[in-house]
Amino acid sequence: MANVHVELGERSYHIHIAANHLQQLKRLLPNLSKDVFVVSNTTVAKHYFADVSAALADHRLVLFEMDDGEQYKSLASFEAITNKLIAEGFSRDCAIVALGGGVVGDLAGFVAATYHRGVDFYQIPTTLLSQVDSSVGGKTAINHPQGKNLIGAFYQPKAVVIDLNCLTTLDDRDFRSGLAEIVKYGIIYDSDFFHWLEHNAIALAQRETQALQHAIQRSCEIKADIVAKDERESGIRAWLNLGHTFGHAIEAATEYGEWTHGEAVAAGTIIASKLSEKTQRMSSSDFRRVLNLMSQLQLPTQAPNMTLADWLSYMMRDKKVKDHRINFVLPLGIGQAEVTHNITDEDLAAVLTECC
Ligand code: NAD
Ligand code: GLY
Repeated sequence: MANVHVELGERSYHIHIAANHLQQLKRLLPNLSKDVFVVSNTTVAKHYFADVSAALADHRLVLFEMDDGEQYKSLASFEAITNKLIAEGFSRDCAIVALGGGVVGDLAGFVAATYHRGVDFYQIPTTLLSQVDSSVGGKTAINHPQGKNLIGAFYQPKAVVIDLNCLTTLDDRDFRSGLAEIVKYGIIYDSDFFHWLEHNAIALAQRETQALQHAIQRSCEIKADIVAKDERESGIRAWLNLGHTFGHAIEAATEYGEWTHGEAVAAGTIIASKLSEKTQRMSSSDFRRVLNLMSQLQLPTQAPNMTLADWLSYMMRDKKVKDHRINFVLPLGIGQAEVTHNITDEDLAAVLTECC
């Protein structure tokens, strides 16, 4: 069992990582309110709500089971959850628990941030992506028809409980999506971890417990470190968006259905790394290492075919656009990154043509 601390002063919390943690919830969350509202979805609740309910038998538990899918991270779901909280008489001292992937976590977190101006929030992430990324760091959000995550808040959970056993029911595509975010941490922050990933790619792809435990723990440590330094993303936290500017363009162009978030991030990371290679921020041999690792993990390394005008129009909607300039997160070799708008149109066009 591992325990990662997120140091944020009075909003600090622990990330508990092990197998069989659902059964240990009572011990892991000693300060949990007696009134617990669980947000989950039809897929996840079927597998795991019974375990949560058994572990918290002496609490009042109400389950909100949403439909499964990114399209339900919406204002309509936000309203439906709030209506149920009010109808069931949940007061300010209740707790909201997210049991699910990033969609459930982002939505439930935003409800927790706003219900009675903020109630206790706990994350029990059940996808690899949510275990290594979205459950940690306090970004909560819902989508608007005009764009993803347009409405949200920074709101930290009181604790994150990761149960590795939840990954046994996750399908291969969603599992691989999480691996893309794990590779990201190695590229932006920790060359030793990247090296470890290269040597353990097969074990990870085969979901070997020890390899997974280490990859999840190291990813959470890196995210915790970055969030502690820059909770509100005024600097280094932006590195966590490596590949996302290109990835969001891919997701939007394919109407948020064809590519998973992690697949789009993988292809976006290859484009960002290629841009780094072209502008001498990354050596050709390091670029090949990134490409090989993504391929070994069976993640996409080519983006879909889009015109330059399409790329630019999608990328101009990125949150990192400032003064009408796109800010790119680019790796500086392996183990560090920077945010820059210092990229010529010619270099960008050449790389996008090459990577599509
Ligand atoms: P998801 O929540 O849609 O989960 C993917 C699929 O896996 C869903 O069908 C879900 O029902 C299913 N699932 C979840 N757990 C399962 C389990 N244990 N067994 C079987 N099936 C299971 O997607 P995701 O990839 O977890 O998260 C993507 C979302 O996270 C996006 O909305 C993205 O914007 C958000 N995100 C947020 C942050 C953040 O910092 N807040 C970071 C990255 C991504
Ligand atoms: N997933 C990006 C962040 O938490 O900042």
